[in-house]
Amino acid sequence: MSSSTIPKGHTLPVRFAGLASYLPDRVVTNDDLAEVLDTNDEWIRTRTGIRERRVLAPNQATSDLAIAAARAALNDAGMTADDLSAIVVATTTPDHTVPGTAPLVAAALGSEVTAFDINAACSGFLYALRVGAGMLATGDSAVLVVGAEALTRIVDPGDRSVAVLFGDGAGAAILVADDQASLGPFDLGADGSDPSMLWTEAGGTRQPVDGGVLHDRSNLLSMRGGDVYRNAVARMTASSKQVLADAGFGVDQVDLLVGHQANIRILEAVGQRLGIPAERSHITVDRHGNTSAASVPLALADAREAGRLNPGDTILLTAFGAGLTWGSCLLTWQPTRHQGTTTTAGGGGAM
Ligand code: COA
Repeated sequence: MSSSTIPKGHTLPVRFAGLASYLPDRVVTNDDLAEVLDTNDEWIRTRTGIRERRVLAPNQATSDLAIAAARAALNDAGMTADDLSAIVVATTTPDHTVPGTAPLVAAALGSEVTAFDINAACSGFLYALRVGAGMLATGDSAVLVVGAEALTRIVDPGDRSVAVLFGDGAGAAILVADDQASLGPFDLGADGSDPSMLWTEAGGTRQPVDGGVLHDRSNLLSMRGGDVYRNAVARMTASSKQVLADAGFGVDQVDLLVGHQANIRILEAVGQRLGIPAERSHITVDRHGNTSAASVPLALADAREAGRLNPGDTILLTAFGAGLTWGSCLLTWQPTRHQGTTTTAGGGGAM
């Protein structure tokens, strides 16, 4: 079965009214990790491209990151929470199993609008964009879409095969309907036939936490790295090709590729297979590590700060994650009301 795709040529009249991100203050370098793990900067950099990542403070949870990014996105749009009609939070590391994280974000913003989570792992922001755009088509006025993650809370800090890969952060966008704007086509898909490729085996309803789980640490993230790597390259490439074909676009019409930031080698391989040169791919994995559902909006906000999102530019977004899930879409960039900035725990005018 093929993945679900909006019909050929079909784009949605949706614009990013606001865009912002939030990174926790604490920077953990590869050398920092090498002090506590049997690893080294050279191995991490050459295998993954990661130099450092951000880690949330002990008193922070995913919703705190999401709230900071959401406030900054509202500021960027020149809007208040009263202008929102829905809040969608893409996360695979919610504050709690129950309730969802989005209602907590809504409460902090002083809002009682529709608020729910999406768990599509690292593809979550692409899924949330598609859902948010669909909500605008059926009457919503402004949808806050957040990708927020605290992956460092679900990795075993003593497991070098995963602990070096992940970081924490959040990115947020406010979607509004605009007849002059264009979001899509989308290609989203999922293959749940082999979830153990990348998962937390225990801690859910299949295997609730008990003494054995805590002993085995099987409530923490584990993966088969090589299989994940191969599938990430294949799925992001195929999905990107699908949206380009559906749009009738050649790769030369893509001004910037903003892919899920899991590994520089994965992004380079996807770029090569698509025929998009490295200078047209935005990279943040070196500074952020893999922030799962937050990675695409974090990278998008970073690209704008770097002056790489110009009015009318065609941006190709693509992501891949646990599930497996994957997704891609095109975005025609239009400036937001204010120039946003990435905020940090220590400040940032937008918070
Ligand atoms: N530091 C030092 N050595 C490490 C290490 C670390 N952090 N992690 C693993 N190693 C060792 C392994 O133990 C192995 O040693 P051995 O040959 O003595 O057995 C060696 O390095 C090679 O391990 P391998 O897993 O084959 O490395 P790799 O080249 O496949 O790279 C990943 C590993 C994880 C970087 C790579 O598979 C990858 O990026 N996968 C995708 C992960 C990902 O992006 N997940 C999220 C997707 S959304």
